[in-house]
Amino acid sequence: MTQTSSTGPDHGKKPQKSFLRALSGEVSEVPPVWFMRQAGRYLPEYRASRSQAGSFLDLCYSPEIATEVTLQPIRRYAFDAAILFADILLVPDAMGQTVTFKEGVGPLLDPIRSQEAMSTLSLDRLHEHLGPVYQTVKRLSQELPDETTLIGFAGAPWTVASYMVGGQGSKDQAETKKWAYEDPEGFQRLMDMLTQATILYLSRQIDAGAEVIQLFDTWAGGLPQTAFQRWAIDPMRKIVSALGATYPDVPVIGFPRGAGPLYQDFIDQTGVTAVSIDTGMKVEWARDHLQTKVCVQGNLDPLILVAGGSMLDDEIDRIKDCLGSGPFVFNLGHGIVPQTPPAHVGQAVERIRLIRS
Ligand code: CP3
Repeated sequence: MTQTSSTGPDHGKKPQKSFLRALSGEVSEVPPVWFMRQAGRYLPEYRASRSQAGSFLDLCYSPEIATEVTLQPIRRYAFDAAILFADILLVPDAMGQTVTFKEGVGPLLDPIRSQEAMSTLSLDRLHEHLGPVYQTVKRLSQELPDETTLIGFAGAPWTVASYMVGGQGSKDQAETKKWAYEDPEGFQRLMDMLTQATILYLSRQIDAGAEVIQLFDTWAGGLPQTAFQRWAIDPMRKIVSALGATYPDVPVIGFPRGAGPLYQDFIDQTGVTAVSIDTGMKVEWARDHLQTKVCVQGNLDPLILVAGGSMLDDEIDRIKDCLGSGPFVFNLGHGIVPQTPPAHVGQAVERIRLIRS
């Protein structure tokens, strides 16, 4: 049996919420659970709020509607954590780059591909622009159930840069790599600016009530070892240490998606509290090489959630059986996709919370 509550002299000091306890290294019989992109188009109530808001960016900058869509999956599934509804591309938007979201296409940005083009960017109006997001965090921290943890987030600099430079999503980040490899000093200036913006942004989210931070490095897995060190690990270490200096008790979850064995270097060198592992990672390897150092979160395939059925239950059991004996948070290996039947999410949460003898 594992200990899930504290009654000793420390009582009151240890975190009481299950998600915070797991991040602090505690093992429990039932892992806390939340899903990346748990608010989104697979929910009819999200689609209704989305059309009420107008554009996707209008939704992100409306504290009232953004609060509502953050709460929707909590009402349905009682997840252990709520993630602020926003987007990683609000940061370039707040830095002065033109960002739009096109229906059926995704994000489109006026690409920045040189130091000269960076002259349009500035951190001067960052907080003014992102003020509505801080208001959303504040509302959420007042409205969430007592047992639910509030996660704030940002994109990691490499992933945000890959949209800023590419101008859109890209499978190989060719434009961004071209700049980074041909003019590393120039590209470093963009990365430094993003690192600074991210620290400022996340600090305000914590001030407003975010209890945990997750950093999404969706495209880190495409970087070779030396570039991973410079563009994924180094900026993340700076962010984690800057936040840690002011907010030593706020856990930080890193998600260097697809980084494989480099997850070890990432943990050793960035100081993150936990890592989110992607769908392709072998759970036994994560247990033996990552969970010995930090809490691990993951890694159900979002497309198994679409399929449902006994395959879904079996996959959940496999992941739980392997990772459940260490500090663990159940999650997906990437975000929920729009075609997911909401009932399958309910089935998954029930299975994750089931105690099998
Ligand atoms: O519920 C949550 O997880 C919180 C909200 C959230 C969104 N985006 C909402 C969103 C979070 C944490 C993100 C992170 C994000 N955004 C990432 C990193 C994680 C990942 O999925 O890899 C990235 C790369 C982005 C950039 C982005 N935003 C893309 C590429 C797209 C288009 C793809 C798509 O799904 O449409 C978005 C749009 C977006 N962000 C939507 C949502 C709910 C869909 C927009 C809509 O409602 O029309």
